[in-house]
Amino acid sequence: MAMKRAVSSAIRSITSSPPAFARHLHASGGSKKIVGVFYKANEYAAMNPKFVGCVEGALGIREWLESQGHQYIVTDDKEGPDCELEKHIPDLHVLISTPFHPAYVTAERIKKAKNLQLLLTAGIGSDHIDLNAAAAAGLTVAEVTGSNVVSVAEDELMRILILMRNFVPGYHQAATGEWNVAGIAYRAYDLEGKTIGTIGAGRIGKLLLQRLKPFNCNLLYHDRIKMDPELEKETGAKFEEDVDALIPKCDVIVINMPLTDKTRGMFDKDRIAKCKKGVLIVNNARGAIMDTQAVADACSSGHIAGYSGDVWNPQPAPKDHPWRYMPNHAMTPHISGTTIDAQLRYAAGVKDMLDRYFKGEEFPAQNYIVKDGQLASQYR
Ligand SMILES: NC(=O)c1ccc[n+]([C@@H]2O[C@H](COP(=O)([O-])OP(=O)(O)OC[C@H]3O[C@@H](n4cnc5c(N)ncnc54)[C@H](O)[C@@H]3O)[C@@H](O)[C@H]2O)c1
Repeated sequence: MAMKRAVSSAIRSITSSPPAFARHLHASGGSKKIVGVFYKANEYAAMNPKFVGCVEGALGIREWLESQGHQYIVTDDKEGPDCELEKHIPDLHVLISTPFHPAYVTAERIKKAKNLQLLLTAGIGSDHIDLNAAAAAGLTVAEVTGSNVVSVAEDELMRILILMRNFVPGYHQAATGEWNVAGIAYRAYDLEGKTIGTIGAGRIGKLLLQRLKPFNCNLLYHDRIKMDPELEKETGAKFEEDVDALIPKCDVIVINMPLTDKTRGMFDKDRIAKCKKGVLIVNNARGAIMDTQAVADACSSGHIAGYSGDVWNPQPAPKDHPWRYMPNHAMTPHISGTTIDAQLRYAAGVKDMLDRYFKGEEFPAQNYIVKDGQLASQYR
């Protein structure tokens, strides 16, 4: 009873009254049309039976869904008026998408999707969905909160070290038959003693701070919410209420906030100018938190001495995306949150939510991004 009340109260905290025209999520039974949009694995699909996050793996839920009489269509073809996804928009009930190969769910697509009730994100970060349009249409948007936070925090630690040690040019030398220690050493540093600030200290930010603790750095964080004093004590991280006060102090800045109306374009030319000259920036949060050209210009001028991350705007990044060509970057495709371990966790989370949806049960409260016409608090 107490558990039920706690869940109801947590759900209430992200909701208020539903829109009059809400599509009733748990109202109807019967066979559902479920569409999944994932990246295609081609020759890699058969190399690992646990590789479930791709089109071929289909989150490992095909047999389970089809045995219950549901239709399950999986594709990577998500762009343009003639794509496979577009064909199913008018009659799908559930769309499973993933940040790694985002199916952009625009207001226009939502308007066309007359049967749509549920948008599930296989992973974390549902900014590829027009959340306001989803809320206005009475749709439910949920993600697998927490599913890949360790994967991302570990990856961020790696990127910080890669930039600090100037690893990428060293790797290129090894691969191309060169040997020029000076060409690497003149801008390689230790992490110890440096000031590192995370902007956003939620699940990933906190795990990163814990992982950085043994490196003996000065740790700072900015968030809309001050963290638990116990965790502050454990990590030694100091809170900066004003992001513009944190930025000039940092040798390394790590972005760990969602993409929202408030964070979109937050790192523009003016904010980058407030960073220390020679700052290193790691961003595995979302590409659109940065002004793309401002980052490329600051890398070219040397104001940013290194930029690394796995998130771009848009995705897949076009061949001429400026971040592919800027100096001193250590960019990759969107990979940090899609390790095999993470895939198994977010596949299990999606299956659990589908199961609850079929049974008319609530989802874990922390998974809701849009419910009953309201966005979760950090997206408002
Ligand atoms: N690259 C990847 O593979 C990958 C995987 C998972 C998550 N992510 C990204 O990382 C983000 C963070 O994930 P998380 O699990 O830590 O989320 P989280 O919700 O646990 O933490 C987000 C933190 O950001 C803070 N925040 C939100 N808006 C803010 C603002 N305007 N100013 C200051 N702080 C603000 C929140 O208070 C919260 O503490 C996700 O939203 C997603 O975009 C990327």
